[in-house]
Amino acid sequence: MCGIVGVLGSHEVAPLILESLKRLEYRGYDSAGIATVNAGVLDRRRAVGKLVNLSDLLVHDSLAGKAGIGHTRWATHGEPNVGNAHPHRSGPVSVVHNGIIENFRILREELAAAGLAHETDTDTETVALLTRHLLDQGMTPQEAVGATLKRLEGAFALAFLFEGHDDLMIGARKGSPLAVGHGTGEMYLGSDAIALAPMTDLVTYLEEGDWVVLTRAGATFYDMAGNRVNRSVTRIQLEQTRIDKAGHKHFMAKEIAEQPAVLGAVTAFHLAPDGTDLAFPPEVDFSTCDRVTMVACGTGHYATQVAKYWFEQIAGLPCDIDIASEFRYRQPVLSDKGIGIFVSQSGETADTLAALRHVEGKLSRTIGVVNVPTSSIARETDVALPILAGPEISVASTKGFTAQLLVLLLMALKAAQDRGRLDAAQLAAKLADIKVLPGLLAQALDREDDIKTLAAKIAESQHALFLGRGVMFPLALEAALKLKELSYIHAEGYASGELKHGPIALIDKTMPVIVLAPRDALYDKTVSNMQEVMARQGLVVLISDRAGLEEAGKVWAQLAMPTVPELIAPIVYAVPAQLLAYHTALARGTDVDQPRNLAKSVTVE
Ligand code: AGP
Repeated sequence: MCGIVGVLGSHEVAPLILESLKRLEYRGYDSAGIATVNAGVLDRRRAVGKLVNLSDLLVHDSLAGKAGIGHTRWATHGEPNVGNAHPHRSGPVSVVHNGIIENFRILREELAAAGLAHETDTDTETVALLTRHLLDQGMTPQEAVGATLKRLEGAFALAFLFEGHDDLMIGARKGSPLAVGHGTGEMYLGSDAIALAPMTDLVTYLEEGDWVVLTRAGATFYDMAGNRVNRSVTRIQLEQTRIDKAGHKHFMAKEIAEQPAVLGAVTAFHLAPDGTDLAFPPEVDFSTCDRVTMVACGTGHYATQVAKYWFEQIAGLPCDIDIASEFRYRQPVLSDKGIGIFVSQSGETADTLAALRHVEGKLSRTIGVVNVPTSSIARETDVALPILAGPEISVASTKGFTAQLLVLLLMALKAAQDRGRLDAAQLAAKLADIKVLPGLLAQALDREDDIKTLAAKIAESQHALFLGRGVMFPLALEAALKLKELSYIHAEGYASGELKHGPIALIDKTMPVIVLAPRDALYDKTVSNMQEVMARQGLVVLISDRAGLEEAGKVWAQLAMPTVPELIAPIVYAVPAQLLAYHTALARGTDVDQPRNLAKSVTVE
């Protein structure tokens, strides 16, 4: 995804736009740029790499103007270089874009035939060229943008500026989020509330297909058909947009440390005030549901894989789980009594949003499990359950994962209750296990020094395997994702029992095998798997509780975890997985909060 910001200001806008772009950099950091209109003259500055490179450029080569648009890029079309950096420009038109224009090649051919050649590899330049082409035919900027939008296929959030127009900015939204900020004699555009928070707490979220014409006097909204529409203004909770590291070295460290508080808040929010019963909106009702379909990407998908065990074991409810980018193409067989659960921290992941739109009218209900209540998935599901994690800035999801797990666990209990499989006493026992979560997470966090030692032992490895059984298997997958996306070590997660069916060929004295295994009902089998690994000089790192460590005997390395109720083990064991990845990345000197090639939420398919 990319970050977009626009300002029609009463002062020089470049510094303000830079400040907003800093708050958007987690969305993409391959390049950045700003364009302004100053006394009618359109100009721009762009730099490849992190935003600091643009800041440095502006120190030496300033950009004047009280109207401006800015962009941080995660490259989709065209490699990350200055030429492909936004804002793009054609004649009097400048534009920034988040998304993918799927028909840009056809448009590019049309424009070339009309004598307008492209200079970059990007789909976004096509938008600037097409708008310019329509201006050349005598349209006004508003007419030209309206006509351009009708030709674009795909997903986009766009912000336009025009030479000769110091008091005009146009925004558009289709598939990628965009919000209008309302100031005093100033107006703004931003990808999200976090971008707008330095300027205002009054925002209007564009609906799907909306576009907006801004002057400093205000905003005029249009729908996809070009009809004027009214859109409400909401006041954002600025606290929810605060992004600082709170004394930690990285956002990831802060967000890992926040988990006890976050999960305490999630528990309180989704339980009745006296804590003895679940409290969900009435739409969260599984009494007539015959099947649950859960769809997500990445870490969210691994959360649904854990949840599948809970829904089936506790609620006796058949559960399909799908990677969002595969879901609609496999032509899933859906039940009209089924419930779809769409899990997404950002609420903007294009694959998950597309999957949600695929089930429109085919399920009895859709439920979002999201961290951004104003996001597209939150708005398009029948009901959205907040995970209350607060802004998650680090690209690697940590508190988002454990908060998703807890909300999904509480939903599985609700499903069991609705289906008469959980009486008050049984619910009380499970809630008692859940209520000790914050304390156990804190105890897991206290193992950080030991985990740092483990990280030092694996930091030079080129490969690593994570093993887990039962409900800990998806956790092995998530632990492997954390390690690979943060430290760039090739890591894979496997079901412990699966190792002997091929992957054991990988085992030798250079291969760390990290085993996530509390002393549970399947532990004996896991011990056998560890012995198979050690018999082949594999380097077993056992993460277990005291009982498990004693039973396993000597291993290459180990971490003693607190003894935890089986129900919440996958949530608590996420902490060592996260900290191991974090400290391994530190040891390898990679960029912890903004790993290479990644972006916080992928709003393109
Ligand atoms: C998580 O560590 C990854 N950065 C990534 O897999 C992420 O979970 C995935 O892109 C889904 O994002 P979402 O939860 O915002 O939809």
